[in-house]
Amino acid sequence: MAIKNVVVAGGSGALGTPIVNELVKSGFNVTVLSREGSTTTQPAGTTVKHVDYKSVDSLKAAIAGQDAVVSVLGSFAIPEQIPLAQAAFAPGSTIKRFIPSEFGVNTRKTPGSAIGKILGAKTQLVDFLTEEANKNPNFKWTGISNGHFFDWGLSRGLFGLDREKRTAKIYDSGNERFQASNLPFVAKAVSAVLQKADTPDDKTANQYFEIASFTPTQNEVLAAAEELTGGDKWTVNRVSSAEVQKVAEDKLSKGDYSVFVDLLSVWQYADGAGHAPNLADPALGNNILGLGHQDVKESVAAWLKE
Ligand SMILES: NC(=O)c1ccc[n+]([C@@H]2O[C@H](COP(=O)([O-])OP(=O)(O)OC[C@H]3O[C@@H](n4cnc5c(N)ncnc54)[C@H](OP(=O)(O)O)[C@@H]3O)[C@@H](O)[C@H]2O)c1
Repeated sequence: MAIKNVVVAGGSGALGTPIVNELVKSGFNVTVLSREGSTTTQPAGTTVKHVDYKSVDSLKAAIAGQDAVVSVLGSFAIPEQIPLAQAAFAPGSTIKRFIPSEFGVNTRKTPGSAIGKILGAKTQLVDFLTEEANKNPNFKWTGISNGHFFDWGLSRGLFGLDREKRTAKIYDSGNERFQASNLPFVAKAVSAVLQKADTPDDKTANQYFEIASFTPTQNEVLAAAEELTGGDKWTVNRVSSAEVQKVAEDKLSKGDYSVFVDLLSVWQYADGAGHAPNLADPALGNNILGLGHQDVKESVAAWLKE
C-alpha cells in the first residue's frame, strides 16, 4: 500500500467509528483528530490528536508526516473542513489523498434543488478540492456518495418503518429504487480507496463516485419486514412526495432546516426521482473497488433482531 498513515477527522462519530475500525483492521496506522475539549470516546487502536478546526496551523501540525486525510466530520461541522483541506494542500504537506465528509446522496447532482441549499457546504468543499487538485498534481481527493445509511437509519426510524407498531410510511407508489448502504460497507469502501490510492491500479484519484449496499424500493423493504415478522401486512401510511416537498420548501424558505429528512426522502423515494445507481454499472464504486453488494433482506432481519 502506498498510503500507510491515515488521519481520520471525526473518527469518534457514527460513521467515523466503523471507518477507523476498518482502517486499523486493514493495517493502516490511524490517527484520529478530535476537537479540543471534546469528551467523545475515541475508537481503540489509534493515536488521538486534539485540534482547533478553525486554525490551519493547528491542523497542519496534526497532519504533518501523514499520507491521507479522511474527514468524517458531522453534518454541523461540514464548513470546518475548509481549513482542514487548506492544511492538507499547504506547501510541504505530505498528504496525497483527501476524502471529504460526503457520505450521503450525490451532492454533485443537488445544486439548484431545495436539498442542495442545505448541502451547499459539501458541494463547496468538493469544488474547492477539484480546483486545488488541478493546481497541484501531488494532491488528490476522492468523494464517496453512499445514499442513506441503511442500518443506522432503520434503527432511528428514518425510513418510516416502525417494527413495534408494524407501520410503514410510503412515498407515492413506493416503487422507486433508492441508494442505501450499511455503515460497515461504507467503511470498506473508504479502506479500499486508500489501499488503491497512489498505486498503478488507482481509478479513484480526483473522482466522485457512488456506492450502494443495495438499491431497494420502499415496497421491497416493507415486504421483507412483513415476511420476517410472520407474513401479516403492516399498516401503510401513504404520503405524496409533491405535497411533502411543497411544505418542506415553504419551511426552508423561512429558514427552517429541520426539513432536511423530508427533502431527502422525496429526493430518494419520489416516483421518477431516478437517483438510485445501477449496481451493474462498471463506473459504480462497488465495481471499481471490488466491493460487491449486500442483501437487503439480511439487513432488515438484523434490524428486526436488534
Ligand atoms: N447518508 C446518511 O444517511 C447520513 C446520515 C448521517 C450522517 N451522514 C453524513 O456522514 C458524515 C459523518 O456524519 P456522522 O453522523 O458520522 O457524524 P457525527 O457522528 O455527527 O460527528 C462526527 C464527529 O465530528 C466531530 N465534530 C467536529 N466538529 C463538530 C461540531 N461542530 N459538531 C459536532 N461534531 C463535530 C465530533 O468528534 P469529536 O467530538 O471527537 O471532535 C463527532 O464525533 C457527514 O458528512 C454526514 O452528513 C450521512
